[in-house]
Amino acid sequence: MKNTVPKIVNLKNERVISMMTAYDYPSAKAVSEAEIDIILVGDSLAQVVLGHDDTLSVTIDEMLHHVKAVTNAKPTSLVVADMPYMSFHSTPKETLYNASRFIQEGKADAVKLEGGSKRKNMIEALIDAEIPVMGHLGLTPQSKNVMGGYKIQGKTLELATKLLEDAVLLDQLGCFAIVLEGVPSVLAETISENISIPTIGIGAGVNVDGQVLVYHDLIGMKSKEYIDAKFVKRYSNQYEDVLESMKSFKKDIENRDFPTENHSYEAGELTEENIKEWKKEVKKILS
Ligand code: KIV
Repeated sequence: MKNTVPKIVNLKNERVISMMTAYDYPSAKAVSEAEIDIILVGDSLAQVVLGHDDTLSVTIDEMLHHVKAVTNAKPTSLVVADMPYMSFHSTPKETLYNASRFIQEGKADAVKLEGGSKRKNMIEALIDAEIPVMGHLGLTPQSKNVMGGYKIQGKTLELATKLLEDAVLLDQLGCFAIVLEGVPSVLAETISENISIPTIGIGAGVNVDGQVLVYHDLIGMKSKEYIDAKFVKRYSNQYEDVLESMKSFKKDIENRDFPTENHSYEAGELTEENIKEWKKEVKKILS
């Protein structure tokens, strides 16, 4: 059965919520079949799919293209579309227009956006228009230039308090969940205990209501030079498997070991005899 926003909210204090990113039809199929509660079409696609250095350059249209591919898989997981940089920063009206494209054209169930009190008006506009919003606090990658890189957030009492206040605000505004990324475990635990909606952690320790990982990190779809963040656990090494498959294919066709008879089509009417005749005809036609 399809997951809904109220179902996800009710899972707080019931069991751990699972969330995974997915960016296309086959990954969405796998995530859904594994009964992961939420699919996030994350703006991390800028890096893991499109090869950009950060998430700042991915556009609404590019995100939408992938949201559509994910929802075409008809996953039972709730589908959350990530609002890319500058799609929710200027006015509530523009934010609403951009988010509505994910819902109407992309058929997403909800949107996610980074930031706390600064985005209050935008979040209010979305919730007022019946668009469920997932918040995202802590190490918010779209703020990397202001943060001076990807740094763990909330390490002083003052900054921890600010993050806690932001989480309480998002809860009060009506967000249905909050991603907590790159924050000390004790802060994530304190936030989780003091708000009514689920927290989904990534680099936020054990004591949160759910966990999320990036699909390509989890399956190891990363070339050798890529160094995983501390919070990543690889469950397989797909890049190595794919690489070996490509090398085997190249070797097989060079040795003429592929395709074999089994991969080829039978002659039908094209017997040796009439092929000879036909080839003569072909020569005549082409001369
Ligand atoms: O874009 C993304 O993948 C995310 C997750 C890391 C939460 O925002």
